[in-house]
Amino acid sequence: MSKKRIAVIAGDGIGKEVMPEGVRVVDAAARKFGIDLAFDHFDFASWDYCEKHGRYMPENWKDQVGGHDAIFFGAVGWPEKIPDHESLWQSLLLFRREFDQYVNLRPARLMPGIIAPVVRKDGTPRQPGEIDMYIVRENTEGEYSAVGGRMYPGTEREIVMQETIMSRHGVDRVLKFAYELANSRPKKHLTSATKSNGIAITMPYWDERVAEMAKKYPQVKTDKFHIDILTAHFVQRPDFFDVVVATNLFGDILSDLGPACTGTIGIAPSANLNPDRKFPSLFEPVHGSAPDIYGRNIANPIGQIWCGAMMLEFLGHKEAHDAILKAIEAVLDPKSGAPRTGDIGGKASTTDVGKAIAAAL
Ligand code: NAD
Ligand code: IPM
Ligand code: MN
Repeated sequence: MSKKRIAVIAGDGIGKEVMPEGVRVVDAAARKFGIDLAFDHFDFASWDYCEKHGRYMPENWKDQVGGHDAIFFGAVGWPEKIPDHESLWQSLLLFRREFDQYVNLRPARLMPGIIAPVVRKDGTPRQPGEIDMYIVRENTEGEYSAVGGRMYPGTEREIVMQETIMSRHGVDRVLKFAYELANSRPKKHLTSATKSNGIAITMPYWDERVAEMAKKYPQVKTDKFHIDILTAHFVQRPDFFDVVVATNLFGDILSDLGPACTGTIGIAPSANLNPDRKFPSLFEPVHGSAPDIYGRNIANPIGQIWCGAMMLEFLGHKEAHDAILKAIEAVLDPKSGAPRTGDIGGKASTTDVGKAIAAAL
């Protein structure tokens, strides 16, 4: 098989700490399964780069990484130095749009050895297998829009507005992806997040497109909930969900809530996919740069490592994906005595957890 080239972008904060562990484990898996991988490291999409160059990314960033097979990404954002909307719209959000990564696939799964903070109705703990869902987030349009503006700035008449934009093409393609995924899973259950009671133009349109797509997948059980009650259901009956499809903003919120219900956002991965494979897809943990813990080497690297597994699977190496997931589960098993980070009740360092997972492989 030909060499696969991975662009590695660690970014800001704990991105710089978890990325070496992600690379360590992906590299170990590549060796184990004879996958020919090359890692090219880039320093842009970071405050360190911006401080030197006055912008988060070079003008020719697309030429630099557009030819790679995948982008392995840490986290971006250094709000103490630069407003988030500036750093993010100059980096991550640009990747998603320019590389047409219109699906953001985010699993939320209760892993063995982690105690879920959400319990059953009778107060007993949830077990692995009970929370096992995919959030399919629309990733290039919706509420995240650059259309809008400010009028009469600084006056009493000041007005700000920002449009939510949905295209039929954009909505249908992410719905199709979600239905295909639901159809491939044993429960064949798709839930749509809506808010068509209040947001009276775009959300009814979303519902309409869901209803239309549902006709093509009669074997998939479809339901929908308004986003407010949906967040309550995530907490009270997370076992109900299988595939949850949502607009950009609702998907963002649900994909922190889902992993939080499984114990920590530190293990949650995400795949920003260009399913057509015209452009590279980007694999990044759900969490951010966590300035509050940066510099102490205590961040959980499992989110980054799991992203590495998703990346290998997308590149055609399911066996490597499965082996990394097994290694993560082995290390999370409390009986293993393996190191774990503070967010899941341990005291170990980022590096020790990364090394333990690589060794378990
Ligand atoms: P965050 O995810 O960075 O942190 C939220 C909380 O979770 C913090 O208390 C943090 O310490 C903890 N946490 C996060 N990841 C962890 C890990 N791997 N192990 C242990 N604990 C972990 O969210 P935030 O504080 O809202 O954002 C910080 C910065 O990151 C902001 O600039 C924000 O815009 C950015 N951000 C970037 C991304 C991304 O690059 N994909 C995602 C979310 C936030
Ligand atoms: C995520 C993040 C980003 C988003 C931010 C940092 C712009 O929260 O990847 O979930 O909202 O998409
Ligand atoms: Mn988010």
